[in-house]
Amino acid sequence: MNENYWPNYYEGRERQQPSPFAERINKWIGERSFVEWKILDIGCGDGRDAALFAATGKNVCAIDPNSDVEIDGVYFEKIGVAGLKKFGEARRFDLLYARWFFHAITDVEQEQVIDFAQDHCGYIAAEFRVPGDEPDDTHERRLIDPWKFAKKLDAHGFRIIHLDVDYGFSKRGDDDPYLARVIAERK
Ligand SMILES: C[S@@+](CC[C@H](N)C(=O)[O-])C[C@H]1O[C@@H](n2cnc3c(N)ncnc32)[C@H](O)[C@@H]1O
Repeated sequence: MNENYWPNYYEGRERQQPSPFAERINKWIGERSFVEWKILDIGCGDGRDAALFAATGKNVCAIDPNSDVEIDGVYFEKIGVAGLKKFGEARRFDLLYARWFFHAITDVEQEQVIDFAQDHCGYIAAEFRVPGDEPDDTHERRLIDPWKFAKKLDAHGFRIIHLDVDYGFSKRGDDDPYLARVIAERK
């Protein structure tokens, strides 16, 4: 999806500030655990959120096939969903973190990621665009029904512990996307 859009997107751009979702998840982790969490930031983009997690003491792996990330404390590989199985074979993560990632990939890729999480991850935290959102037309987004997404996670052995759908989660200027936030833990 968007093969001609993402490959050049990050070139020459400054890294963005950590997202509000990353701040929220970081706080959520802090409220439940004092041990070091191992996080996989999938589709990490410029590494904005991976940088926050690393700066606050998490053990962070980040992957994205379309960017080059060099951040202290972040182990980065330039791979996508297609390389996930091999990359993750011998790895375990407390959290699969996916911001604005699931709506950027295909249905089939989403299935592959959730399959991976079932075997390798304790929690999933995701923020994505939902039906009703009206993104610009610069590239394609797959709007995801949050309830179907939750059902899918449930069928893959995850319990939904947080599901919120709203505006205001990631407002930038006039742009206020309609988003879901989901946190799920392995049963
Ligand atoms: C909307 S951006 C989100 C980036 C970052 N998570 C953030 O919140 O700023 C979507 C990201 O998904 C990545 N992506 C697209 N297809 C992918 C795939 N098949 N596997 C892994 N990442 C992919 C893109 O390169 C892009 O960085």
